[in-house]
Amino acid sequence: MKIRDVLLSEYGKASSVPSPVNQLMTDFAVGFRDGRDINLGVGYVNERTIPHRHIQHACEKVLAHPEKYRAALNYGGARGSPNLIAALRRFHTENKIGGVTERALKGRDIVIGANGATSLLESVTHLLPAGIVLTADPMYYIYCNDLERKGFKVVAVPEDDEGLDTELLKAKLTALGAESAAIRFFYVVTVNNPTCTILSNNRKRELVDIVTRLSYEVGRKIPLFFDNAYSDLVHDDTVEPLESALCYDELGIVYEVGTLSKILAPGLRIGYLIGSKGSLLDSIVQRTSDIGFSAPLINQEIASYLLDHGIESQIEKVNNGYQQKSKQVKTWIAELLGDNIQECRGGSAGFYFYLTLAGIATGDTSDFFKFLTRTTGQEAVDGPPDAQHPKVIYIPGEHCVHPSGDMVEVGKRQLRISYGFEELPQIHTALKIMKSAIAYSQKIHSF
Ligand SMILES: Cc1ncc(COP(=O)(O)O)c(C=O)c1O
Repeated sequence: MKIRDVLLSEYGKASSVPSPVNQLMTDFAVGFRDGRDINLGVGYVNERTIPHRHIQHACEKVLAHPEKYRAALNYGGARGSPNLIAALRRFHTENKIGGVTERALKGRDIVIGANGATSLLESVTHLLPAGIVLTADPMYYIYCNDLERKGFKVVAVPEDDEGLDTELLKAKLTALGAESAAIRFFYVVTVNNPTCTILSNNRKRELVDIVTRLSYEVGRKIPLFFDNAYSDLVHDDTVEPLESALCYDELGIVYEVGTLSKILAPGLRIGYLIGSKGSLLDSIVQRTSDIGFSAPLINQEIASYLLDHGIESQIEKVNNGYQQKSKQVKTWIAELLGDNIQECRGGSAGFYFYLTLAGIATGDTSDFFKFLTRTTGQEAVDGPPDAQHPKVIYIPGEHCVHPSGDMVEVGKRQLRISYGFEELPQIHTALKIMKSAIAYSQKIHSF
């Protein structure tokens, strides 16, 4: 008898095919040659920014003080470790990092996710009914891809150098007309991934204002999630200090998602959410319980110890490293690719540059991409099959812009490169190879 395959839900079906970026990274990882190939595609932090010894020391302290760090190797609760929550409260208020005031935290809670900020963002997709989500274009493709697999419709609003363009947003909202009743939430990354554009305080304030008005218009609170993944990584001293959107929020619609991944270690998997007490936050806590409780308690206690002991100097160290790299990489980009660059975003925060090339396609099937991944099929370009020339990977812009948004065309000439993971000499080599890839691409097209 013929038997059919496992019956999958719509989400299951959509997830059985890896997302384009996952596929790209997997393909690249399979044949990756350490010390030869260069990965400017991953969002990994730089290994040297991870305070290995401090983490080891914190772990010892936590285990040596069970009176403070109770049962640190046992199950934790769904809300998160009280030590960590208290440490985060202090981190955001007393240390003046993150710009949150004690007043803004009144009536609000901090909850810890099961597995980084990612798990909290994912939880939101289960707790709000499918509908429209507004975000900036280029968008954080990982989360937006998840949203679309779960049946949400992502409406992406192009950004300018201050972040999501609020004039364009207003036009999009007007164009939605009655459909705006289907808006479920806003998702805005304050130092955007992929562009590293910093959302200015003015824009942030305007966004809170727009979503507050919209909430009144539709007669229901529309949550506005700010993803602060990189907000502690502003390493350009000329940038105005970032304010927390919680300070502008009268209606209680702002939720801020934070993570310790970029300032301490992604492997700790500590992400948290700050927002108004109420049904949304309660449902997130229940969801965290459903998927295995908040992050491993030992990690939460280690994180709380590190927040209480020298987090400022750790952040300074991390930012000094990225600042130096950013400056150097920017110079090399100008030197090596300058003639072919129409626009270069990033360099002030986080660890990505987002480039728009003039007349050079960057997508998976482009000559530029094939040259860099050594898949042109020409031995003279790729090198011999058993000893191919170094490969370079980046994220093509076509995966970062919304596929039915306003940036589709320009996205085909864009790319995100990371200066986080690889060290400067490798990045320099990669940029030199990119220069050759541009020349190759131009030569092919001149025929
Ligand atoms: C915008 C954004 N949000 C969230 C995350 C993930 O954070 P976490 O490691 O806490 O899951 C990342 C990681 O790169 C990110 O770029």
